[in-house]
Amino acid sequence: MADELEQKALITIFGGTGDLANRKLYPSLYHLFTKGYLKDHFAVIGTARREWSNEFFREKVKESLQDIEGASEHAEEFASHFYYQSHDVMDQETYVSLKNLSDELDEKYQLDGNRLFYLAMAPNFFGTIARRIKSEGFTDTAGFHRLIIEKPFGHDLKSAEELNNSLREAFREDEIYRIDHYLGKEMIQNISVIRFANSIIESLWNNRYIDNIQVTLSEVLGVEDRGRYYDESGALRDMVQNHILQIVSLLAMEPPIKLTTKEIRNEKVRALRALRVYEGKEVHQHFIRGQYGNGEVDGKELKSYREEENVDPNSNTETFVAAKLMIDNFRWAGVPFYIRTGKRLATKATQIAIHFKDVPMNLFGNQQSLGGNVLVIHIQPNEGITLHLNVKEPGQGMVTMPVNLDYVHSSQDRMNTPEAYEKLILDCLRGDATYFSHWDEVSLSWNFIDHIAAVWTTTKDHFPNYKPGSMGPKEADELVQKDGFAWFPVVDE
Ligand code: BG6
Repeated sequence: MADELEQKALITIFGGTGDLANRKLYPSLYHLFTKGYLKDHFAVIGTARREWSNEFFREKVKESLQDIEGASEHAEEFASHFYYQSHDVMDQETYVSLKNLSDELDEKYQLDGNRLFYLAMAPNFFGTIARRIKSEGFTDTAGFHRLIIEKPFGHDLKSAEELNNSLREAFREDEIYRIDHYLGKEMIQNISVIRFANSIIESLWNNRYIDNIQVTLSEVLGVEDRGRYYDESGALRDMVQNHILQIVSLLAMEPPIKLTTKEIRNEKVRALRALRVYEGKEVHQHFIRGQYGNGEVDGKELKSYREEENVDPNSNTETFVAAKLMIDNFRWAGVPFYIRTGKRLATKATQIAIHFKDVPMNLFGNQQSLGGNVLVIHIQPNEGITLHLNVKEPGQGMVTMPVNLDYVHSSQDRMNTPEAYEKLILDCLRGDATYFSHWDEVSLSWNFIDHIAAVWTTTKDHFPNYKPGSMGPKEADELVQKDGFAWFPVVDE
């Protein structure tokens, strides 16, 4: 009998030779294997167009584990569960061979008909694959059938709806697991615990005590080799529609009545429904966009965005977005949620800063002004929280000084924190969809984003408008300054 930890399944990865599979999926599956979640009763089929043998595929899988300490010990045994099937997603015939291999492995490893399909490839094929999975009988087995689907989930609301409809021909909503890898990050999952397990925090978590909230997702890298995709997408679709709006909904949601997938989702959806949708002029007032120019960082000359490979030399695509979001409900009325994200910025960091209101009067007014209290949630590279408070400077008089209460792990201390993908794949194997995006969330986010994109496509900005190694265009600073605030610095900023 399989033990309790063990999850039985056949995992079929479409895009099995790709970058995501190599960098994230195989190492994550390996971690699940060493922890006993995957053991004797699992098999993985990698599919892609290339003609690879099982042996060659297994070598590639082992190579992908090279950075994992001690991996050589179990790599052989792990890789022996991997099979390769060359596959043309448009050709019906190849589905027949794939189906036969699936049935064979099901029997060989006694998988009880549990099947997880992972779509880790170009999104234009998602619909076709899902339909074939259904029509060719892959899901006519006794066990569970689940589909994990990578972003982008559509390009706008209309294309997302079309994609969703084609997936729904083959899978129920509760069988579709839309990945937003930020939801797998340790500190994103910690937001609910920080809020709902601490009365001193949750009781202040509203517009009576909070002045503004700032969410920063900054990146040092440029678009690298993803110019073709990125030039069509831009930062708004690449980061705001998914990761940032997911974070905002977790920060803004009401406490769920239970910690179940359904209750949490309902509250996130209600928060997104309260998000003010901007139109026309409002878009220019509350949304700032930027595009990086060329420049020198650490003695290295970096290309401008327009000079990157597969990018239109006159591109009007934004590589930076800053915005002021408003959530129109009783809890949040009047509290701005400032967000910013961009490529080629000064530092790689994800951080949430919750600024509390100032004390009603400064009793220590003859000194420098009191800094407000700020709760910072560090998502990456460090993980943890810092609370900024004021205390008395030791010695004579009543001089205040700022102190930080820290609970922060550096990325080195958290070698044992599972990677986002590892957590998400395990959740899916267990049938827990809490940290995946529900269709209602996706459609509300696209509706919001489409209104911004509609205005941006009809107007041009003066691009490029920020230097690599900066924190974006000056308009992003002005966005918060005109409300009397400043961006809370991210580490190293
Ligand atoms: C992806 C975006 O979703 O997230 C990338 O497509 C971005 O453009 C990446 O670089 C950032 O993820 P992380 O986990 O490195 O912060």
